[in-house]
Amino acid sequence: MSHNLLKGKRGIIFGALDERSIAWKVAQVAHAEGASFTLTNAPIALRMGTINKLADECNAEVIPADATSMEDLENLFTKSMEVLGGKIDFVLHSIGMSPNVRKGKDYGDLNYDWLMKTLDVSAISFHKVMQTAEKLDAMNEWGSIMGLSYIAAQRTFPDYSDMAQAKAMLESIARSYGERLGRMKKVRVNTISQSPTMTTAGTGVGGFDVFFDYADKMSPLGNASAEACANYCVMFFSDFTKMVTMQNLMHDGGFSSSGITDRLIEDLKK
Ligand SMILES: NC(=O)c1ccc[n+]([C@@H]2O[C@H](COP(=O)([O-])OP(=O)(O)OC[C@H]3O[C@@H](n4cnc5c(N)ncnc54)[C@H](O)[C@@H]3O)[C@@H](O)[C@H]2O)c1
Repeated sequence: MSHNLLKGKRGIIFGALDERSIAWKVAQVAHAEGASFTLTNAPIALRMGTINKLADECNAEVIPADATSMEDLENLFTKSMEVLGGKIDFVLHSIGMSPNVRKGKDYGDLNYDWLMKTLDVSAISFHKVMQTAEKLDAMNEWGSIMGLSYIAAQRTFPDYSDMAQAKAMLESIARSYGERLGRMKKVRVNTISQSPTMTTAGTGVGGFDVFFDYADKMSPLGNASAEACANYCVMFFSDFTKMVTMQNLMHDGGFSSSGITDRLIEDLKK
């Protein structure tokens, strides 16, 4: 059911690779809530994925951009403002990738060139997106910028490897740039710390099935789905959250506040 929460708002959505992607679900909800937006992803992902299907469904233009390239980002913001007919009200940064995780490198044997790539793609790109928006004066006042994080920024999950450092940096950038854009443009910047979710990025982490199940049992409400995450994102693009900024928002069914749960105790007793 639509409430027209984003009626008249213009956005840019990064990171819809396939139907499982969190960004894919955000695009569907944002469309249903009346937003117009452009979709973007790295050129290679556009070739591999099925984004055109989503673009047709949402009446959205696809503009390729490697989120680590300032040139691509400048083109993306400039073209988005042209296509959408004005400045941008919301941006979703839904991007993560670690070559060390992908190639199964042990944390005690990290490839440092790959670590730099992890940080650039998964965290510094968030800064690059906002720096580009600032330089082009592309954001409308009271706009909203959201990144997606994971609790490995605060606690250790061994197989998450150098992505833990990337998420800690992502959340830190949200605070630093949130201060700046809040002061300058009344734009809010937050991150959502999402439950483990069955997507390409999620299932690429070793032992994912096990910790998906563990997190589900450790969360009184169970793991938050990608659909629930999309609803939460859209609420943050709406005018109902105007005064929330520089926050890392736990969207995890209660996982982060649980010591142990009955469901887990039952499991451990077996
Ligand atoms: N799946 C989970 O368990 C989980 C949990 C918490 C947070 N997150 C975060 O949610 C976000 C979205 O991930 P997802 O789970 O939907 O997986 P996904 O694999 O569907 O999305 C990741 C996206 O990042 C894009 N990307 C990678 N390199 C890029 C680059 N250089 N430029 C532009 N885009 C690039 C990919 O093409 C892909 O679309 C990520 O930040 C991820 O870390 C995921």
